[in-house]
Amino acid sequence: MRKILVTSALPYANGSIHLGHLLEYLQTDIWVRHQKMSNNDCTYICADDAHGTPIMLKARELNITPEKLIEKSKKEHIEDFADFHIEFDNYHTTHSEENRMLSELIYNNLKDKGVIERREIEQYYDEDEEMFLPDRYIKGTCPKCGAKDQYGDSCEKCGATYSSTEVIDPISVISNSKPIKKKTEHLFFKLSDYEKFLSNWLTDNRVQKEINNKMKEWLSDGLSSWDITRDKPYFGFNIPGEKEKFFYVWLDAPVGYIASYKNLCDKNSINYLSSWERDTEVELYHFIGKDIAYFHVLFWPSMLEGAGFRTPTSVFCHGFLTIDGEKMSKSRGTFIKARTYLNHLNPEYLRYYFASRLTSKIEDIDLNFSDFVARVNSDLVGKLINIGSRCARFINKDFDNTLASKSNNQSLITQILEKKDAIQTNYENRDFSKNIRVISSLADEVNKYIDDEKPWIKIKDKDNNEAVHEVCSDGINMFRVLVGYLKPVLPKIAESVEKLLKCSPIDWYNIDQLILEKKIEPFKPIITRIDEKSIEIIKTEARED
Ligand code: MSP
Ligand code: ZN
Repeated sequence: MRKILVTSALPYANGSIHLGHLLEYLQTDIWVRHQKMSNNDCTYICADDAHGTPIMLKARELNITPEKLIEKSKKEHIEDFADFHIEFDNYHTTHSEENRMLSELIYNNLKDKGVIERREIEQYYDEDEEMFLPDRYIKGTCPKCGAKDQYGDSCEKCGATYSSTEVIDPISVISNSKPIKKKTEHLFFKLSDYEKFLSNWLTDNRVQKEINNKMKEWLSDGLSSWDITRDKPYFGFNIPGEKEKFFYVWLDAPVGYIASYKNLCDKNSINYLSSWERDTEVELYHFIGKDIAYFHVLFWPSMLEGAGFRTPTSVFCHGFLTIDGEKMSKSRGTFIKARTYLNHLNPEYLRYYFASRLTSKIEDIDLNFSDFVARVNSDLVGKLINIGSRCARFINKDFDNTLASKSNNQSLITQILEKKDAIQTNYENRDFSKNIRVISSLADEVNKYIDDEKPWIKIKDKDNNEAVHEVCSDGINMFRVLVGYLKPVLPKIAESVEKLLKCSPIDWYNIDQLILEKKIEPFKPIITRIDEKSIEIIKTEARED
């Protein structure tokens, strides 16, 4: 039995969960469910990322305290995730005592190591708001191409990146006033001290090829020190021993992984450190989006190494979700919140569709709505669920709800069961789309078998009774195996099939045990087709959200 700790990135507490987020949480949840079906000791941890300037400003705008805002968000996030059947073992917040303690501990360890340096820097300061301005809160003219109205860190016109002090005619986005340059003392983490560690850490297959190449580039360019300080006003943790200085949100955010795990362990009187000490046997995987790879493959492993903790086993990075071929956009009605979707469609449709698109690559993934409707309606409902409903009906009506005592087509059953190892491997490797293809073609085979046997005709002749009984029992047993194969993706459908068949929860060890001569429940519809009208309604609501 493997011991595995899994995380998804911690969503910011200033916004709702949307379909883009869900790509990540569903990818992780499917992987975790597969591990649990393998009887591995797998723990899935997450939390809200509660600190930083945007959260402070959002609370101000709503005229509530940041504490109130993050409490509301956390509640909403937890409900959204639960309704998509995303099953965390613990969901915490980075604004917690565990996280404060651990962030301080890691910082102090780094300081003792001598890898925290102090330096005076010059930053833009908004005199009206009495605050230093993060780059995203400065707008001005691009120093490279002259485009107006560009953010303080990069130009959307020419793609240049630069420091905010280079921007021409800067303006504070918060107060619309002209910021002044002001000196301030900041603490930095000396990342260059970890270049050697990082290149060693990189060697054994820890990250995907694309990230590996990127890291080699970053490492050969040399790493600059990382500014871990923010001045007041800021919503975050005070840096110990410093006056009115706070940890930058990206310092305490990944520490939130450990803090959420500690919070879980404390509830169960387990020592959290046994999973975080250097020589632990526990595997640690972070699922993240490509936009935050830098933080997870450079800063985070170095922080852990420097502070004397274990480092991640692997970081699994995914691409971005586009909808109908484009970036999610409010005006096109494709910036869809989890809740807006849930108000109109079954979460398992999206789980199935994302699984059909997800691979181990970092490519962006498109949610094409006509493809979505087609795949769910024809593959999932039309082919797979159809096997169960067409066969269960005969078992219910003609055979007293009882399955036959033997099979009529052992070779097809064997053919289906032979795919088990490959399916497990594909889940393990995050090649979910391959599984959906394999399972869908197996469903074709089963439907063809039933079509060829024509139970609806044969049943009319009493002499065929036994054969019809066996064919329909075969159909039910094959259905059970296919639904079992999809259980990480479709946990609720699997649960209703387990209930229908009155069988024990399917896992990778009992999946090949056929059920024979057993009573089943009367068939109840499991899932219906998507009504295309709901897509338009969702898009309309998303424009208004
Ligand atoms: N708070 C940080 C993560 C801190 S982890 C220590 C953050 N939050 S986020 O809410 O912006 O994003 C959370 C996760 O969702 C990230 O991994 C991000 O890549 C992912 N996604 C956000 N939008 C996405 C898409 N449109 N498509 C795919 N993933 C997306 O980053
Ligand atoms: Zn430019």
